[in-house]
Amino acid sequence: MRSGSFDQAASDYDAARGFPPGIAETVVGAALEWLGSARCVLEIGVGTGRIARPLLDRRVAVVGVDLSRAMMDQLLLQLPPGAWRPPLIQGDALCLPLASGAFDAVVTVHVLHLLSDWPAALSEARRVLRPGSALLSGYDWRPPHSPGARLLARWRELLAAAGLVGSGGGGRDFPDIQAALLASGAQVEERTVGEWTVARTLARQIETIEHRTWALGAEAPVEVYRRCLAELRSWAAATFGGLDRSYSVAHRFVWQCYRWLTAEHGG
Ligand SMILES: C[S@@+](CC[C@H](N)C(=O)[O-])C[C@H]1O[C@@H](n2cnc3c(N)ncnc32)[C@H](O)[C@@H]1O
Repeated sequence: MRSGSFDQAASDYDAARGFPPGIAETVVGAALEWLGSARCVLEIGVGTGRIARPLLDRRVAVVGVDLSRAMMDQLLLQLPPGAWRPPLIQGDALCLPLASGAFDAVVTVHVLHLLSDWPAALSEARRVLRPGSALLSGYDWRPPHSPGARLLARWRELLAAAGLVGSGGGGRDFPDIQAALLASGAQVEERTVGEWTVARTLARQIETIEHRTWALGAEAPVEVYRRCLAELRSWAAATFGGLDRSYSVAHRFVWQCYRWLTAEHGG
């Protein structure tokens, strides 16, 4: 099994993409309103535990699955001394090494859109769910026209020009996934929770791309990646008049809770 492009991102992931103080508790508090008494929860693409750690703090028995052992090692490093260590399984969302119907809920955040075969991942998520239980899918919302969003859009264009889009970016987005879930008979409830602002410079944003904390193109060969990065830097300097200007980006967290009324599998 390939370990996944996020191995390279593991040490910078939380600094680049972690929640500011207090937000994780708000995000997880909202999830718990849906999870109710669910206590055996699978997180697919658990990563460094941005969601799993606050769930563990609330005594939810989280089992994590992720392709990247390095990401999950960061999760373990951040557990308080003496804390219960959750089972963390290196595995693929497309073929979960877990029994059918074993979980009270499945949680997945910023993962499905990375997978080119996300329908297979949805089907697997549904297979391991106990009938009638919930699939929670979440993502961080950012405004589409911020300098950082424009930078990522340009990054996608450069990767496309190099023939690399799809090598880790998936190319699908959340609306496609939602449409597939609804078509499979799921009912959805959506909530936006938590609002925070991240202050950035373009230089720092480019550094997070350099550290491959964004999946888009993260599996590209080193030389091509470097060449695209150099082009991105030149474009950003010319477009924004330099890389050191600071800007603020509003963030929100969006949860979607899916449930099926029938027990039939096939998400
Ligand atoms: C953007 S990170 C999100 C991590 C975490 N859920 C969060 O919100 O911070 C994506 C995670 O999904 C994992 N991942 C990517 N493809 C996967 C797959 N096919 N199966 C399992 N995990 C995968 C990556 O290794 C990474 O840890």
